[in-house]
Amino acid sequence: MMKNFIDTSDFTKEELLDMANLGILMKKTLKAGHSLNLLYHKSLGMIFEQASTRTRVSFETAMTSLGGHAQYLAPGQIQLGKHESYYDTAQVLSRLVDIIMARVQKHETIVNLGKHSNVPVINGMSDYNHPTQELGDLTTMLEHLPEGKRFEDCKVVFVGDATQVCASLMMIVTKMGGHFVHFGPKGFQLNEHFQEIARKNCEVSGGSFLVTDDEESVVGADFVYTDVWYGLYEAELSEEERMGIFYPKYQVDMEMMNKAGANAKFMHCLPASRGEEVTDEVMDSNRSIAFDEAENRLTSIRALLVYFMGKRDEAYDVCEKALGLK
Ligand code: CP
Repeated sequence: MMKNFIDTSDFTKEELLDMANLGILMKKTLKAGHSLNLLYHKSLGMIFEQASTRTRVSFETAMTSLGGHAQYLAPGQIQLGKHESYYDTAQVLSRLVDIIMARVQKHETIVNLGKHSNVPVINGMSDYNHPTQELGDLTTMLEHLPEGKRFEDCKVVFVGDATQVCASLMMIVTKMGGHFVHFGPKGFQLNEHFQEIARKNCEVSGGSFLVTDDEESVVGADFVYTDVWYGLYEAELSEEERMGIFYPKYQVDMEMMNKAGANAKFMHCLPASRGEEVTDEVMDSNRSIAFDEAENRLTSIRALLVYFMGKRDEAYDVCEKALGLK
């Protein structure tokens, strides 16, 4: 098994489904009132080069709920990138904690941490991808599958800017054999590198993908997903630029949801800029599963921590016994 969780492309469909299913099982076990001290006295180091609500709180709560402990290493408060090399930081943290997660500005930072650490490293988002979001989103879609449909029958439409969340959603949907559409304006669509990944995933999984600026592409969607229009990090767009490029065509409003279909669900990785990429009406409607999605960051991160700390089999065993499944 891979030591690190940096890119879902490193894993098979079966492995990723196994992680998602483990998260769902652990969530059920905890909600039924059982304890899961699978990571008793283990320590997680959390490096953040940027702000975070969901990722930070999910990792910290996950460690606590499993009997362990998390240390928040805030932006600008450790030596990495200034006075200390990746190699030295990775070596030192490997002596001090049992597992590392990092949210980084540049993808090469997480790759280097993973290469030089002796403990598992989990990618908490880079400028390239957001794999823990992917696993949480897979979990949410599995929990909200339309009646009578398998994931492989579902159409998932990402609307708007080709953020790392858009790329990540494409990776997990095409890996699982689903049907992915990126509906976004030219110049802000998934690039050739990501389209090549989509093509390769679909060859194996039987899924499909389409990149388009045709608004008819939302018709028949089971899940309509969007993210902010800010652009990536230093390429950030001003409000005037954002509205000029994306508004109103790419705003998810009730008209777009109805065009998608009566049963289409709305998803957002959050934080949302209400009034830009999504209206209040959609966010606050019963079509929205964005808050279930936020909760499932915790669900899937708990599974990842257990999985990458070598406790996968024990976790299945403990949960199945607690729930009377074996
Ligand atoms: N979706 C997400 O990663 O949220 P945070 O930036 O708050 O962690």
